[in-house]
Amino acid sequence: MQEIIKALESRRQQARQGGGKRRIDAQHAKGKLSARERLAILLDPGSFEEYDMFVTHRATDFGMADTIIPGDGVVTGWGTINGRITYVFSQDFTVFGGSLSETHAKKICKIMDLALQNGAPVIGLNDSGGARIQEGVASLGGYADVFWRNVQASGAIPQISVIMGPCAGGAVYSPAMTDFIYMVKDTSYMFVTGPDVVKTVTNEIVTAEELGGASTHTKISAVADAAFDNDIETLLEVRRLFDFLPLSAGHKPPVLPSSDSPDRAEISLDTIIPASPNQPYDMHEVIVKIADEANFLELQKDHAGNILTGFIRLDGQPIGVVANQPLVLAGCLDINAAKKAARFIRFCDSFEIPILTLVDVPGFLPGTAQEYGGIIKHGAKLLFAYAEATVPLVTVITRKAYGGAYDVMASKHIKADVNYAWPTAEIAVMGARGAAEILYRSELTDKEKIAKRTADYEARFANPFVAAERGFIDDVIMPHGTRRRVIRAFSTLKNKQSVGPRKKHGNIPL
Ligand code: COA
Repeated sequence: MQEIIKALESRRQQARQGGGKRRIDAQHAKGKLSARERLAILLDPGSFEEYDMFVTHRATDFGMADTIIPGDGVVTGWGTINGRITYVFSQDFTVFGGSLSETHAKKICKIMDLALQNGAPVIGLNDSGGARIQEGVASLGGYADVFWRNVQASGAIPQISVIMGPCAGGAVYSPAMTDFIYMVKDTSYMFVTGPDVVKTVTNEIVTAEELGGASTHTKISAVADAAFDNDIETLLEVRRLFDFLPLSAGHKPPVLPSSDSPDRAEISLDTIIPASPNQPYDMHEVIVKIADEANFLELQKDHAGNILTGFIRLDGQPIGVVANQPLVLAGCLDINAAKKAARFIRFCDSFEIPILTLVDVPGFLPGTAQEYGGIIKHGAKLLFAYAEATVPLVTVITRKAYGGAYDVMASKHIKADVNYAWPTAEIAVMGARGAAEILYRSELTDKEKIAKRTADYEARFANPFVAAERGFIDDVIMPHGTRRRVIRAFSTLKNKQSVGPRKKHGNIPL
């Protein structure tokens, strides 16, 4: 018996070595951790249960029969994050460059199936040279098996991808279909075709970092939701994100005890709106002042800065925040902002996370770039996402809510539940100056007259009361009491029920 136990331990030991010390050292030299070291940081100490440690590939071509490494380039199993279960896979770059073989894919599929069956999230740590070149089409089939499961799992269980090395070719499409992508700065990249192919086809000369590094994907393409300096920081941030998410659809996200009083007044909010409507202020500050313990997990912070998205807690309850940011493009809605917020709203709605919307929006960004780029369809994504959402929706208009953008930003008309306005709110078709210039075009040359017309329009419409008189706003609230009022509003919506018409699914303008 002792011998058998020793043999098991030795087999385990061999599997844990992956591609061997030399390759692990090479991984470290690049500033990267090994697949197992990463899981040790991501998961609670001692919680990882590994599956399929002894799985090997079945390829025989290109000398593969002589190169068998137990585990086959991916470490899979489950563990806990702050006591809550998650399934995980972690690609091991030291084994065939973490490339995906038929059996490597089967290991990933197994834990995805278990995650779906048992209602728990999947977190994938990607570090792979792509399809296992020696296996050809068997490997491609493996990718498709994973893709299909990504789609089945979408909206059923949260899926998080962490890009911690190469992720190229077909490999990008599994992360692309998950809910969140985090990247590690300088050591990770994602692209459909690499710099060499790009040069051959388009003559463009570009580095891997420029083409698909963390900076590109967090700032320009918005493929990634966040990027951090190194493996450790990135994995700790994944743990932080995980704490906001429910384990699966139909379950409430985890409420944590909060030491921040729900009644806390924030007097500084009474003076945050500048005297001039053209002067910006930082909506980030408003969010942080409302949130429990000033904790705001911002997503896509380097992309479409004119809208802010992320998670906060209010009295311990996870809340998704969508907020116009007057500091960037005066808070206008444009293509990127609409896409960013729409996808976030749909995530929250899939997973029972209530949404707080803070509105200061002067309208949609004008111009040919926006129209040619399809702002009509992209803006409609945001409108569609809000109108389709059945989670509790609470809206606070802090200043401008102009034109169609007023309707879009979780107005009561598209079934937001509770809508408040600060006394500084201006709910109107457009700004007073613009309105006066259109209504009194013949007086345009007379500056004094136009100023008077502007002042008249402002006095009549640049306030929240016209909307409040119609019940479009439930109450005009004191800015300092926003946290208390919003927490109370969400507390009334805990048992919200909403039944829509029978259909297979809507047809969001993609
Ligand atoms: N299939 C099989 N083995 C692969 C592989 C793949 N797709 N990608 C990498 N490897 C192996 C390498 O042969 C090497 O093996 P070794 O340790 O036994 O020498 C090991 O993984 C590390 O690769 P290496 O090229 O030395 O690492 P690198 O950091 O210099 O480069 C890549 C990483 C991903 C840029 C490079 O390996 C690459 O271009 N791989 C092919 C990518 C590709 O075209 N994939 C198929 C299309 S999806």
